[in-house]
This record gives sequence, structure tokens and C-alpha cells, in this order.
Amino acid sequence: MKMTGRTVLVTGGSSGIGLELARQLLERGNTVIVTGRDPHKLDAARQQLPLLQTFQSDVRDPAGIQALFLAVTTQFPTLDTLVNNAGVMRNIRLAQPRALDDLTEEVDINLNGPMRMIQQFLPYLLQRQSGLIVNVSSGLAFIPFPAAPVYSASKAALHAYTQCLRAQLKHSAVTVIEIAPPGTETPLFRGEFAAEMKNEKGMDPALLVRQCIRKIEAGQLEICPGVSQVLKVARRVAPGLMLQQMIKLSRAGQQVQ
Ligand SMILES: NC(=O)c1ccc[n+]([C@@H]2O[C@H](COP(=O)([O-])OP(=O)(O)OC[C@H]3O[C@@H](n4cnc5c(N)ncnc54)[C@H](OP(=O)(O)O)[C@@H]3O)[C@@H](O)[C@H]2O)c1
Repeated sequence: MKMTGRTVLVTGGSSGIGLELARQLLERGNTVIVTGRDPHKLDAARQQLPLLQTFQSDVRDPAGIQALFLAVTTQFPTLDTLVNNAGVMRNIRLAQPRALDDLTEEVDINLNGPMRMIQQFLPYLLQRQSGLIVNVSSGLAFIPFPAAPVYSASKAALHAYTQCLRAQLKHSAVTVIEIAPPGTETPLFRGEFAAEMKNEKGMDPALLVRQCIRKIEAGQLEICPGVSQVLKVARRVAPGLMLQQMIKLSRAGQQVQ
């Protein structure tokens, strides 16, 4: 699967991994369209990458996704690639009070978002000669991080959904790839986890994206860079041991012990 000359839509492409992916895909001669909620972040991304196309759109909003689909496929009829990258990760102490309508935000963005986007865009991608869907999950899809319980659950579920999607599309022209990044130096990694991550160094986003593009081009369907590969293997051979490491890293984990 060549990652050149494609027309790529990246959700959550105004920051972090999505913005770096946009940068590297533009450098390779792809047309790149990104979404995000905050128009100022989208403006700043366009200033960095003048060829970037941006649309303000929220993966939580079904009507917004329908409008995005119409706008993108009208302006960029060669669209052949959807990258579901938008995501949020919060530090949630489950024993503390929290509004019920706020509690499940990660599920709505990280899991329901990709499912909505795929439902809307899949019929179009199926008509392309070589369609591609890339879901960005996390190494935490394999071993959960107790400080981020709803996030971990959302990513484990996205991993399962992606496996089902790949199985259903096996004989179609659409390839389904999962990227499960390890901790990566982006606003999300440091945001609510400054204390937990103070002695940790995340992967460089530029290196992460270079590795992912190389592995997509090599035909790999489940891409687990760096520590994510360790988590994936540990889930099979020593799940308890690795969970203990996560509990240690997690202040929330210490609280519930
Ligand atoms: N960094 C890590 O350590 C790490 C590790 C494993 C997996 N990941 C995954 O990698 C992906 C990218 O994360 P990142 O680290 O690059 O985070 P980031 O720098 O915070 O970027 C997240 C992007 O998603 C957008 N976004 C958030 N909610 C959205 C929504 N409802 N609709 C549309 N866009 C939305 C954000 O823009 P707005 O806020 O303006 O909407 C931003 O562009 C996520 O799925 C994350 O779970 C990250």
C-alpha cells in the first residue's frame, strides 16, 4: 500500500500525532484534509502547513459528520483514505463524584466517533480502487492504565471493533489498519498526566509517524510501535505482571489498591 498520491482525511489533525501525520503525508505528495473542534488550532495548523485543508468538525456530532461527508466528497472526490485519529484521554478517579453525562466522553469520541465516521464514509471508500481506513487505538488497548479507566476501555473496544471491521471487509477493496501508539510526546500525553508521567519519556511523534508510514507501506495491518509491542505480547504471556507496572505508574491505581 503506497502512501503517496492519496487523498487522506485525518480526524483530530490539528495537534499531536494527527498533525505530524498530516505533515509527513503532505511531504509525500498526498492531499491531506484534517478536522478538529477548535478553529484556532485548525488555523494554527494551516499556518504551519499551508497546503493543509481543514474542516471544523466534531466526531461526536452525527449531523456534523454528514455535513463533513458532503463537503469533503464534493471538494475532494478522490478521497480514498480515512484516518480515525481524534481522541481525548482524561485522568479519572472513579471513587470521586462525576456527572454521569460527562463520565463517558472518551467512549463517545474515541470509540463512537470512529464508528460513526466509518458508517458514513465506508460506502464511498468501497467504491475507490484502493480504499484505506486507519484507526488509531493505543498500547492501552492491550493492557489498561488505571489512571485512565474510560480511555483504556474505549481503546480496548476500538481494537475489537477494528478486528471485526477488518474481518468483514477482507474481500473488499478497503484495507483496515490499526495503529496502537505507545506514550507519545503530545499535549494528550502530558495534559492530565503530568504527575504520572514525570519520569517517563514518550516517543517522538515524528519518529512514530515515520515508523507507521513505513509499516503501512510494508503491508502490516496491526502496527504497535515501541512499548506498544511489549504491551501486546505481555497481554498474552504475562498480563498480571504488566498490569502491576501500570498500577504503579498510575496514582489512581495506588488509590484503589
Ligand atoms: N499521545 C499519546 O501518548 C498517545 C498514545 C496512544 C494513543 N494515542 C492516540 O492518538 C490519537 C491522537 O492523540 P494525540 O496524542 O495526538 O492528542 P492531541 O495532541 O491532544 O490531539 C488530539 C486531536 O484530536 C482532536 N479532537 C479531540 N476531540 C475531538 C472531537 N470530538 N472531534 C474532532 N476532533 C477532536 C483535537 O482537536 P480539538 O481539541 O480542537 O478538537 C486534536 O486535533 C488519539 O486517538 C490518542 O488516543 C495517543
